[in-house]
Amino acid sequence: MTYPEPLMTAHADGRDGTESARRQDLLETQLSALFEVSSVLSRSLNLNQTLREVLEVLHRRGRLCKGMVSLVDRQTGYLLVSALHKDGVAPFESVRYKPGEGVVGRILERNRSWVLARVADEPQFLDKLGVYDPQLPFIGVPIRIGADRAVGVFAAQPPNLDDLLQQRTRFLEMVANLIGQSVRLAHMVEDERRDLREERDKLRRQVRGDHGFDSVIGHTDAMKLIFEQVRQVAKWKTTVLIRGESGTGKELIADAIHYNSPRARNTFVKLNCAALPDNLLESELFGHEKGAFTGASSQRKGRFEQADGGTLFLDEIGDISPAFQAKLLRVLQEGEFERVGGTSTLKVDVRIIAATNRNLESEVRADQFREDLYYRLNVMPIFMPSLSERIEDVPELSRFLVAKIGKSQGRELRITDSALRVLMRYQWPGNVRELENCLERSAVMSEQGVIERDVIQLAGLEIGAPDQESALPSIPPATVDLDDPNLDERERVIAALEEAGWVQAKAARLLNMTPRQIAYRIQTLKIRVRQY
Ligand SMILES: Nc1ncnc2c1ncn2[C@@H]1O[C@H](COP(=O)(O)OP(=O)(O)OP(=O)(O)O)[C@@H](O)[C@H]1O
Ligand SMILES: [Mg+2]
Repeated sequence: MTYPEPLMTAHADGRDGTESARRQDLLETQLSALFEVSSVLSRSLNLNQTLREVLEVLHRRGRLCKGMVSLVDRQTGYLLVSALHKDGVAPFESVRYKPGEGVVGRILERNRSWVLARVADEPQFLDKLGVYDPQLPFIGVPIRIGADRAVGVFAAQPPNLDDLLQQRTRFLEMVANLIGQSVRLAHMVEDERRDLREERDKLRRQVRGDHGFDSVIGHTDAMKLIFEQVRQVAKWKTTVLIRGESGTGKELIADAIHYNSPRARNTFVKLNCAALPDNLLESELFGHEKGAFTGASSQRKGRFEQADGGTLFLDEIGDISPAFQAKLLRVLQEGEFERVGGTSTLKVDVRIIAATNRNLESEVRADQFREDLYYRLNVMPIFMPSLSERIEDVPELSRFLVAKIGKSQGRELRITDSALRVLMRYQWPGNVRELENCLERSAVMSEQGVIERDVIQLAGLEIGAPDQESALPSIPPATVDLDDPNLDERERVIAALEEAGWVQAKAARLLNMTPRQIAYRIQTLKIRVRQY
């Protein structure tokens, strides 16, 4: 047994001729084996496969038997056998060594080679694999990443007893260095893959959060119906046509359908059909071959191909020309098309969601929109309610949008109840988008991070005058508990004024104040008295 180092005593000078010939001969085979090992290792990233090939080379060319590579499992810290060379390979998957266990475990722990002149003489030798010849030597060397980190053990047995153990050990150490490089590379690739996977999963979760049901706000019956329809239709490949005024959330609903569908993992491609003239729209949707038209310098996939397996959202579908309607009809009917300038027919599996704020029925009657295309698209229509039809959703929507705006501005932002009540008096012809814009303007003007009613009014809303008020949808009166201790003074006075229809004397009574006192408060709290 030769442990610790020096491994073997150096040979004295003046060896006999046969020994030096044997030495020379071994050196030469080792060199060519080393060359072959290095090319095997550089060939592939499949570590276990290449390790098996390395052991094969070792056996064939390197004059070593029972080559074994074990690597530390990065989760458990155990040494696991990754490859073993033996005729009629013994099952080794269950063999593991703790660091420090047996000869192999000690080589790892001490990060040093260990050579046994005869296996049978070493009591620590466990032979868990049950393959070693007890009468022969055993050479084990650490596999290192960098100088001081052992990540595995590489071992083998010479085929017979000879006095070239030291030379064999040097050879094994060289091969172990090459293996170490490959292990390092494999670890890097594995780590990168894991990071990418984690990043992907995180983004998927985020996308689901941003585009799932949670980002669609509304508790009114009109919105409950929408949620139910989305939930039902998401499961299938059914074509959906989303209708509704501008800014009602058509795109948001398209997102929710895709990200709650079985296609959520695949691509979601959007195209605004109104944004492009016919010829560009065609190459955008169907792609083009190289040289199909001036400027088509290379082949390009269209949106239909990009969306294969996923969903294609065709926004503003009511705006396409009759000529283009015919082209679209074909792909919707047959699922087939050709790239512009191409001859081969492509087939794709795409779920279509279309949206429009136009009245397609009257366009069909006026021959502006093909009836057959209309029926192809109108398989499952979803009608988005206008915001004025669901004015009760305004407070919740506003709080949600204010939080969203605050997040984008990197600050805490909130909105007062009286400001919300002002927002509920408005008709919102531009729907949620207009509400969002209004809140964004108000946020800009709210330096303190609180959007108050005055700011909303300054932001330029045309609130209905009192005589129009009765025509407005239900405006809840100030339902504020004036005795609520959490209500700040300003909000309390505003709430009382609102409840009193902005009659100061009446509001004063609600607050148990004199008219003089409330007038003073209105002045000091800088409440803009605007009567409706
Ligand atoms: N129910 C809702 N909950 C939260 N945000 C909403 C809701 N509806 C719409 N929004 C927001 O309002 C804005 C406009 O919505 P979206 O773009 O989906 O409307 P649209 O119907 O496609 O409008 P247009 O016809 O003008 O294209 C977006 O910022 C969207 O996030
Ligand atoms: Mg839209």
